[in-house]
Amino acid sequence: MVTEYTFPEYFWWGAATSATQIEGAADKDGKGKNIWDKWFEEQPERFFDQVGPGQTSDFYHLYKEDIERMKDINFNSFRLSISWSRLIPDGDGEVNSEAVEFYNNVLDEMIAQGVEPFVCLYHFDMPLSMQEIGGWENRKVAEAFARYAEICFETFGDRVKKWFTHNEPIVPVEGGYLYNFHYPNVVHFQRAVQVAYHTMISHALAVKNFRRVANGADGEIGIILNLTPSYPRSNHPADLKASRIADLFFNRSFLDPSVLGEYPQELIDLLGEYEALPQVESGDADLLKENTVDLLGVNYYQPRRVKAKENLPNPNSPMMPEWFFDHYEMPGRKMNPYRGWEIYEKGVYDIMMNLKENYGNIPSFISENGMGVQNEERFLENGEIQDDYRIDFIKEHLKWLHQAIEEGANAKGYHLWSFMDNWSWMNAYKNRYGYFSVNLETMERTPKKSAHWIREVAKQNGFSE
Ligand code: BG6
Repeated sequence: MVTEYTFPEYFWWGAATSATQIEGAADKDGKGKNIWDKWFEEQPERFFDQVGPGQTSDFYHLYKEDIERMKDINFNSFRLSISWSRLIPDGDGEVNSEAVEFYNNVLDEMIAQGVEPFVCLYHFDMPLSMQEIGGWENRKVAEAFARYAEICFETFGDRVKKWFTHNEPIVPVEGGYLYNFHYPNVVHFQRAVQVAYHTMISHALAVKNFRRVANGADGEIGIILNLTPSYPRSNHPADLKASRIADLFFNRSFLDPSVLGEYPQELIDLLGEYEALPQVESGDADLLKENTVDLLGVNYYQPRRVKAKENLPNPNSPMMPEWFFDHYEMPGRKMNPYRGWEIYEKGVYDIMMNLKENYGNIPSFISENGMGVQNEERFLENGEIQDDYRIDFIKEHLKWLHQAIEEGANAKGYHLWSFMDNWSWMNAYKNRYGYFSVNLETMERTPKKSAHWIREVAKQNGFSE
């Protein structure tokens, strides 16, 4: 029996990426340093094969051909990010006219090719000069971010109609202030909470500016969150509590204030109990309440499975979210062994149903989903990588997304991570994610089997099976 999976009209087919991960030209044309440039200079050994952010995939020079390739596989949209330190090299001062020219060229080319630009303002790439005054720990940086956002709305808002303030704002909190996988490699729960809070304030200030700037009037603004459903090991009350707390820390800490305009009381109470509440200013609650998003991007890669703690945490160790739950390895889980992430396609459906039931069915889309695989040349046949595993991965997620839409979810698109292989932070080019492979020696792009497949899916607005 053939089943048709047809998606709503004007469904967004495309992919996502970020400035630092594809642009290259890290020290060219007036760009200031960001924390990745700095960290690589200090500790190149922390990066896979010691490949740093200097070159990445050279989109800075190859953007024209890349956008043609997008068009060629029937993308109608593509998310990129603006590099804050390229546009405003010291974060808070003069605008770099060469950066304006570059982003103007990219946006014009996208529009000429019929690929709508979705633009994110912050994708893990703090300007170094902003980090030197404390990064998100310093509220001045939140204000500088809002100014940078306003400059972007004014400069590019005539062409960009989908804006996103932050990509996965919980990740720099985790990486930079808890688990040591982003600069500045601090381990300190209280500082992590302050960083998360100021990130949220920077978001609300940017949304406020967006509503004020005339160009934004016909556009929409949102945030991109990595929502990792927290599945309990069992229905035992202790396991349920563990999953509720994990959900509060990793999902609701940004989801609730972005969409509902307030933090969950349970999270406030929990932080209060541990004397870990952030410093706030009067007026913040109204700022958050009045500046909720129009649109939500959902990045989904893997679920989070948890169980009640088996041993009490050592009170002398640094406080961690894991004081409240243990990670749970579900027997029989399906894994992507290269990235070490579980593959659980139904997670897409569960997220969408949660948004429908508890978040006013806010317009949303899958803004990232994807499968990073190591040594993909193994699958090369007649010059083309036969990435059937990626096609299956996408298809199974799309089926669940389709099911959610059938049941009333307000999902408007699906963007893969990523259009072409790109630089993955500490993992550099270890795992490849793209529809197009990138030869690091020559920078040549070659479509994988999945590129041909998605071209047809986008053209048909779905697939049958
Ligand atoms: C998301 C990020 O977390 O996942 C991307 O938005 C990232 O920047 C992607 O590259 C894939 O994860 P990773 O760590 O394998 O690159």
